[in-house]
Amino acid sequence: MKEIYTQLYPNEQVARAVGDYAFTHSTPLPKHLVEHHAWGVRNSVRPDYMISPLQAGFQLWFAKAMGVKRILEIGTYIGFSTMGWAEAVGPQGYVTGLEVSAEYAKVAQESFAKYGITNVELIIGDAQTSIKNLAIAGTEPYDLIFIDADKKSYPAYLSLILKYSQSNSNSPRLLRPGGIIVADNTLRRGLVADSSLANPWHEKQNQEINWRPGDMEGLDTFNKNLVNNSRLATFLMPMFDGIGMARLVD
Ligand SMILES: C[S@@+](CC[C@H](N)C(=O)[O-])C[C@H]1O[C@@H](n2cnc3c(N)ncnc32)[C@H](O)[C@@H]1O
Repeated sequence: MKEIYTQLYPNEQVARAVGDYAFTHSTPLPKHLVEHHAWGVRNSVRPDYMISPLQAGFQLWFAKAMGVKRILEIGTYIGFSTMGWAEAVGPQGYVTGLEVSAEYAKVAQESFAKYGITNVELIIGDAQTSIKNLAIAGTEPYDLIFIDADKKSYPAYLSLILKYSQSNSNSPRLLRPGGIIVADNTLRRGLVADSSLANPWHEKQNQEINWRPGDMEGLDTFNKNLVNNSRLATFLMPMFDGIGMARLVD
């Protein structure tokens, strides 16, 4: 009988080999994405903020397979994942990125200009305010919303998305019916599921993950809110750092 526990990562050596093998047996990322990620690793202040190139490959594949054309990204940093979405939606599609740091947004914008990417708009400011403003302005509904900003605010982001995507309201929707929410880091090194001493990340969490107060509770609440909401069909994918995925069914 197959168990639900993944058998692909019995220890770090095998986990690395499996990750490398999966990466080299997946369609390569476009050159500008590889270049920007490498640049970010060498030069940006928080390279660990960026999703991995393997995750970028998955997101690009997924968004193309779903025929997604409009994406809202909450948490852009220097624009690596944003560029993946921009590639996925193609020149006729559109990406809106939300970023609180003007400094990070400037690097992202310079990088989009460098690579001739013109289908991304960045909004600088607190994401909760930006989401409200987008909804009030009556933006065209998004096909996919990617949440990858401050972890403690994930439940607030979800509430706002659902509030502004009502099926029985005359106001325009933020997320279209059948639209998808993708949220990064929802298992956070497995600590959200098991924060006991048995998890080797328990001891390293403060030094290496830069955990902020309320992060773990925020992620756990977000995961529960996703699965318990009858408006959503949810799948929590135990890959990368945990990817919460939900489809708006109403
Ligand atoms: C993990 S990084 C995003 C990485 C990016 N998605 C990638 O994979 O390339 C999270 C970003 O969210 C931003 N952020 C944090 N709190 C925010 C807030 N309240 N509103 C908007 N952005 C926020 C941070 O400044 C940071 O750049």
